Amino acid sequence: MISLTMQNALNAQINAEQASAQLYLAMSAHCDGKSFKGFAHWLKVQASEETMHANKLIDFLLDRGGKLELRAIPAPPTEFGSITQVLEATLAHEKGITAKINALFELARSEKDYASEIALQWYVAEQVEEEANVGQIVDHLRAVGEQGGGIWYLDSKMGKRALV
Ligand code: FEO
Repeated sequence: MISLTMQNALNAQINAEQASAQLYLAMSAHCDGKSFKGFAHWLKVQASEETMHANKLIDFLLDRGGKLELRAIPAPPTEFGSITQVLEATLAHEKGITAKINALFELARSEKDYASEIALQWYVAEQVEEEANVGQIVDHLRAVGEQGGGIWYLDSKMGKRALV
């Protein structure tokens, strides 16, 4: 049986993952509105991935006999600026999620909750990948700028991301 402390912390992380999905959906719509269909697609896939992250934690919580307490998801903004600013905001958001996952991992360790620690290892590794992927996109955007044809090439590449 999972401790109440760990249960509350996992419920908070489930909410953070669901809020990430909402944020990326809003970003996707913003890019779509600028006719950057590739970036819109990439962000929509990212939103699906965040829902998967939340659902994986829900399954784990329930498997441990915990109680799922879904919380309200704050409404994301509707304006995000330029495409580069969208991806910079994505990177900043992912760094925030990494900090939350690390704190959760630390809590599992201090609680001697070995099952949670092992489950959270997947998220620690996933965050390394998330930050690396988004960081690379930000680097490419900064390199090509938003005036020439480079950004449309990037847009076509972003549109090729496979669905999860
Ligand atoms: Fe589930 Fe992108 O962190």
